[in-house]
Amino acid sequence: MKLLKTLILSGLLLSAPASADVLADKNCGSCHRLKPEEIEKSFTGPDLHYSGNKFQPEWLKQYLINPEVIRPAGFVTDPGFLPKTDLPPHASSSIEDANALTKELMTLKISTPAPVNPEPLSKGLRAKIKYQFERTFGCISCHQSLNLAGKVRGGISGPSLVNAGNRLQAAWVADLLKTPETYIAKSRMPSYKMEPATLEQFTRFLMTLKKENIK
Ligand code: HEC
Ligand code: HEC
Repeated sequence: MKLLKTLILSGLLLSAPASADVLADKNCGSCHRLKPEEIEKSFTGPDLHYSGNKFQPEWLKQYLINPEVIRPAGFVTDPGFLPKTDLPPHASSSIEDANALTKELMTLKISTPAPVNPEPLSKGLRAKIKYQFERTFGCISCHQSLNLAGKVRGGISGPSLVNAGNRLQAAWVADLLKTPETYIAKSRMPSYKMEPATLEQFTRFLMTLKKENIK
């Protein structure tokens, strides 16, 4: 009888699912917005309540295990500016936690943006958009990216786009450029009224920015 009880108990323990709310267990919500209804609250980290729209899951998992700096000038909160020196390195998670956190984060969605043509841009079109990205629209005055020699350069007041092609979902990028207010109430980025074709080409250009292309 005792043995049976032990077996049942251990069986129960083994089959008990890991906590269904690992984001809450890990207190991620102390710095990150996890629910759209928290829109009035101010946070010290970027919004995660649309993680399932924004991130590529493989990047997300790797980031949680081995965080990198995305906003070299610090994350800018509503009331003030958190300078670089005040930004501690992001806590890293175990592989197991990162898997569970990624799974849960990918369920957080607030929109269903239209898919973007996944074909890479032709060489000529890529050169044209790269010129516009750098000169016409001046995106690099605020965002880091790669120059022709594969070196990181650009401004640091916006999130780094050096690894945008591995980090962000194309459909989300296009939707953000089209209607930033869906995701960011008061964006510090200028609103570009791009033609739909230009917008798609910019998105496809951003998807070519990958860390493995750093030389
Ligand atoms: C002490 C505050 C704090 C806590 C707690 C915290 N984070 Fe963060 N997190 C930040 C800040 C600040 C950044 C911005 C870092 C950067 O841009 O380089 C960030 C960035 C991120 C990013 C990248 C977001 C983006 O848009 O680039 C993810 C994903 C993330 N955190 C997930 C988590 C998860 C999951 C937890 C819980 C296990 C967590 N964070 C706990 C402060 C925190
Ligand atoms: C004046 C500075 C500035 C310029 C110029 C600018 N951005 Fe931004 N961008 C930002 C900031 C700041 C954010 C972070 C979100 C926010 O505060 O709106 C951002 C966010 C983004 C994001 C989302 C990145 C993320 O990880 O959340 C993308 C993609 C992006 N910008 C693309 C572009 C493109 C493409 C251009 C040029 C057409 C451009 N940006 C021009 C400041 C700028």
